Amino acid sequence: MDQNWCIERLAAEKSVQTDYYDAAAAMNRPRRFPSPVNDPDWLEQASSWFVEGRVCLEIGPGRGEFARAAIRRQGLMQRYYIVDMSRVMLDKVMSSLGDRGGVEVNPICSDIDQDPLPAIPDQSVDRAIMINVFQDLQPLKALRHLRRIISPDGLLRANMSDREVRDSLRIDDEFFDRETGSFYMTRPPLEERQQDVSPLGFVNMNGNKVPFYRILKSYYRDQLHEIFQKCGFEIIRETPMILPKKVWMDSVEGRHKDHINEKKRELIEKFGGYPGKLDVIARPV
Ligand SMILES: C[S@@+](CC[C@H](N)C(=O)[O-])C[C@H]1O[C@@H](n2cnc3c(N)ncnc32)[C@H](O)[C@@H]1O
Repeated sequence: MDQNWCIERLAAEKSVQTDYYDAAAAMNRPRRFPSPVNDPDWLEQASSWFVEGRVCLEIGPGRGEFARAAIRRQGLMQRYYIVDMSRVMLDKVMSSLGDRGGVEVNPICSDIDQDPLPAIPDQSVDRAIMINVFQDLQPLKALRHLRRIISPDGLLRANMSDREVRDSLRIDDEFFDRETGSFYMTRPPLEERQQDVSPLGFVNMNGNKVPFYRILKSYYRDQLHEIFQKCGFEIIRETPMILPKKVWMDSVEGRHKDHINEKKRELIEKFGGYPGKLDVIARPV
């Protein structure tokens, strides 16, 4: 079926602006992201994997669920860099960490699309993770910055939206562009303070212009291998993820009328959760 809407962009490059996450962080009663950090089983195995490193890095901690779990576990971790482009988000995480045991935590407010993270020495990071962040990045820029700082035996883990699964299950969001695999999100983080967040552009539909605030891009597995390889990484593991039904239903996606339709309900019942993501581990080559 032909698409009956088209996109008008204002900001050229970004998939989301910092003020979106500043507003998300400033909510008094924050809504959960539909993230594996809210799945206790995934959190346990991913944080155990992470603290096998002495020097660890997390990009995009959100509200710090993973950071708190990693510090509690500690393992071999001695230094923990936490990078976020939103100062408000980063401050919230830092103030929520509590006792850090023997871990030295270094917050860095930075956009990894733009900033090569000069405070982190070359080849120094053993474990790096970005959870529900890949969709917001310009991966060819961000991954090159990460390549410089990851140690030769280090590993990078990231999850992303799997376009193969989206295509085969025909997961439909209201403004999902099948040509590019991009979903245009028209919901601001905080309806009542919509004016605080700059739109990236507008969805034009039947003469109406609706602002959109994020572009969430999904990737085919071949595309991911190519992107990682161009940036000096090899993907050594890719695991399909299912976000458990309870986690998805409790998240802002499950609770928002635009995001839950009959088709999604059926899929979530069939798989016991939301199936559209891939958990990738890569090593530098
Ligand atoms: C969807 S949230 C995910 C938060 C958390 N990891 C989770 O899974 O719940 C994305 C996070 O990445 C940060 N972020 C997005 N793009 C970024 C970039 N280019 N550089 C640094 N941080 C970024 C946002 O500010 C936000 O904290």
